[in-house]
Amino acid sequence: MGEAPTAGPAARPDTVRTPKGMHDVLWPESDRWQRLIDRFALLVEGAGYGLAITPILEHVGIFDRGIGQGSEIVGKEMYTFADRDGQVMALRPEGTASIVRAFVQHHPVPPWKAWYWAPSFRHENPQQGRYRQHFQLGLEALGPSDADLDVEVISLAFEFIASLGLHQVTLKVNSMGDETCRPGYVESLRQYLAEHEDELSDAHRTSFKENPLRVLDCKDPGCQSASESAPRFLDNLCEPCMAHFTRLRAGLDALDVPYQIDHRLVRGFDYYTRTTFEFASGAIEAAQNALGGGGRYNGLVEMLGGPPTPGIGFGLGVERILIACDAEGVYPIDPTPLHAYVVDVTGGESAVLLTSELRRAGLRADRAFDGRSMKSQMKSADRSGALVALLVGPKELAEGTVVLRPLRQDDEQRSVARADIVAEVRRAAAESIASS
Ligand code: HAM
Repeated sequence: MGEAPTAGPAARPDTVRTPKGMHDVLWPESDRWQRLIDRFALLVEGAGYGLAITPILEHVGIFDRGIGQGSEIVGKEMYTFADRDGQVMALRPEGTASIVRAFVQHHPVPPWKAWYWAPSFRHENPQQGRYRQHFQLGLEALGPSDADLDVEVISLAFEFIASLGLHQVTLKVNSMGDETCRPGYVESLRQYLAEHEDELSDAHRTSFKENPLRVLDCKDPGCQSASESAPRFLDNLCEPCMAHFTRLRAGLDALDVPYQIDHRLVRGFDYYTRTTFEFASGAIEAAQNALGGGGRYNGLVEMLGGPPTPGIGFGLGVERILIACDAEGVYPIDPTPLHAYVVDVTGGESAVLLTSELRRAGLRADRAFDGRSMKSQMKSADRSGALVALLVGPKELAEGTVVLRPLRQDDEQRSVARADIVAEVRRAAAESIASS
């Protein structure tokens, strides 16, 4: 016989909390998250995208090779650790590389369209809208190189954001060229920046030679003014990249999707080719105003060992979208209320049977426990937000009735035959929908 377990020392209160930069999402805020995900699923599944659920961690090489070791995200922000077998793993910092890994591993027939929700981890300096764990809703489409697919992907993100009621959002688009035209462009940018070295931020004065593109999206005023008249991607695209961008613009125009061309939109991943885009909110702090972004990555599948397969996708930041919704006063927290709350003071099985019957009929029902007094159970009923309370006392039990008391309207309570209660609650639910 082993010894009975003993309680260990109590945890220090300062360790009984979420890790820095991470958050619990509790009801009713979690209800808004769930609705957001459902809304996204409905939209993108309607366009042929299927849900893909991948592990929250991958072998570190998937991100090293996929996103690029030179990127901030891999170089400075990724959570990596050796597991108990000594394998170096990384918590997913974004969704794209994992989806592409799944494509390479399972080789579905392209075109392959996948959507995902993905808790993502980046060891950033936490602030409003910038967290160490954030949640992305995204999709990836693998196979076609057709610019019409870029139009589909961008317009789905646009439609989703607009459907929430967000108005102060700007879609920015750019093209980052491909392996034919990008090297020449990057070299001319490097030369230009060398002539403006003195104006660059301390960090970029030394690093621009390695990766001049990073200067373009740097927020430092020196880098911004230095890159003001820098050479632009769009003036340096090869003919096929230009044709792709022209076709993209025509598609967005045809769908009345408004956009701005942003010559500095290079985004922080090495995998992008051609189209890049981002949705910026005018209602929130500029440093964290990107609600989502994405682009084409025609070489990523090959980088991860698969056959040449173009791809495009986007990721939307759930926390930032909801911050923007709050700032614009749209898409409020509005959880669906309970239909009924059962108050039973008979001490018998009435509450067990009644809640079970209501739930089986598809109604949302809850009840009080622990044989509390009528007054205390009614307090819980009021707090629950239910449309009606269903009261069962000794008199109702003897008569085969239930008292139905409306909790959200001034209507009188009434006695209902036990056999009719499900129909009565259903009627109350329908009336409440009709009047809302
Ligand atoms: P990303 O721009 O790094 O792109 O992230 C997408 C969105 O996630 C951002 O626009 C932002 O809303 C949100 N986000 C990113 N980091 C944080 C953070 N630390 N805290 C809060 N929210 C954050 C990607 O991840 C690419 N995988 C998008 C993509 C998909 N490209 C092609 N396909």
